[in-house]
Amino acid sequence: MQRRVCVAPMMDCTDRHCRYFHRLLAPKVGLYTEMITARAIVHGDPERLLAFAPVEHPVALQLGGSEPEFLRRAAAIVRAGFPYDELNLNVGCPSDRVQSGRFGACLMADPELVADCLRALAAEWDGPVTVKCRIGIDAQDDYGFLAAFVGTMAAAGCRVVIVHARKAILQGLSPKENRSIPPLRYDRVHRLKRDFPDLEIILNGGVDSIDKAEHELNRVDGVMIGRKAYADPCFLAGLQARCLDGATPPVPDRAGVVRKMAAYAATHVAGGGRLQQVTRHMHGLYAGQPGAARWRRYLAEAAACRDADADTLLRSLELFEAAA
Ligand SMILES: Cc1cc2nc3c(=O)[nH]c(=O)nc-3n(C[C@H](O)[C@H](O)[C@H](O)COP(=O)(O)O)c2cc1C
Repeated sequence: MQRRVCVAPMMDCTDRHCRYFHRLLAPKVGLYTEMITARAIVHGDPERLLAFAPVEHPVALQLGGSEPEFLRRAAAIVRAGFPYDELNLNVGCPSDRVQSGRFGACLMADPELVADCLRALAAEWDGPVTVKCRIGIDAQDDYGFLAAFVGTMAAAGCRVVIVHARKAILQGLSPKENRSIPPLRYDRVHRLKRDFPDLEIILNGGVDSIDKAEHELNRVDGVMIGRKAYADPCFLAGLQARCLDGATPPVPDRAGVVRKMAAYAATHVAGGGRLQQVTRHMHGLYAGQPGAARWRRYLAEAAACRDADADTLLRSLELFEAAA
C-alpha cells in the first residue's frame, strides 16, 4: 500500500465513484474508502458496500467498530471477496452517532480494546492492519497519552499509524468543528516518528499545499490529504508529481478526465445508477481555474435533468468549453 501520499477516508465523499475519479488524476496515490462499519458488512449487503474497481488499487478499506468478533467476521467477508490492500480501523471520528456505537475517537481511551480489535482483524487478514487516530481526546491530550496509545498498537502488531494531528473534543463540538477548532500539533506527530522509528507514521490534517506536504515528508513517512483533495482534486496530480515522481506538476487534462468519467458513468447508469452519484464528486475539477463556478453550475444542472446520462455530462463539457 502506497501511503507516502494518500487521500483520507471521508464519509459521503470517498465512495467508489470518487476514488475512480481521483485515480484518473493521480494513478499512484493511496486511496481510502469512507468508513464502513463492521456491523453493516456483517448484516448488510457486502457487494453494495465493498465492491470496487481494480483500477482503484492501491486502496484501503476503513472500518468502524469496537466489537472484536464483528470486526473479525467483517474481515473474513472482505478477505473472501474484496481484495483491498489494507484494513484501517477508525479511531479518530468524533461524531455522536459513532460515539454511541462506542467506536471512533472515544476508543483512544481504551487502547487495550483497540488492540483486541486489531488482533481480531489480523486473525482473518494477511495484509496490513492499520489505525487512524487523533493526538488525544478531551483532557487526555498530552504526548504521553498518545505515545502510550501508539505503543499498545505496536505491541498488537500494528506497523502503520495515521495521525490526525489535532485532538478530538467529544462533547460540545460537531464533527466539522472537530476538524478545525482544536489546533493542529504537527510537533506531536514528528515526536512520535522519532520515538517509534520502526513504525510508519502518516501525518494528517491541514496539508493543503505541495510545499507543506514536501516539508512534512522530511519528518514523517507519509501525508494524508482530506478536504483539499476533495475540494481541488487536481491538487493530487501536482502532489503525486512532486512528492512521488520527483517531477514538475503537470497541467492536468481536465477535459480528458471528464471524457473518461463519462465512459465510467455510462456503465454506472446502464446498471441502474444515477449520473449525479458520479458527478457530485467532480464539482472541484476546475477549482482555481477560470470558469470554476460555471462548471459547478453546469454539473448541478446536468444532475437535475431527468434521465441524465453520460451524454448529459459530455454536453456539459461541450457547453463549458464553448463558453471558455
Ligand atoms: C466530509 C468528511 C468526512 C469524513 N469522514 C471520515 C471517515 O469516514 N473516517 C475518518 O477516519 N475520518 C473522516 N474524516 C476526517 C478526515 O479523514 C481527515 O482526518 C480530516 O478531514 C483532516 O484532514 P484534512 O485537514 O486534510 O481534511 C472526514 C472528514 C470530512 C471533511
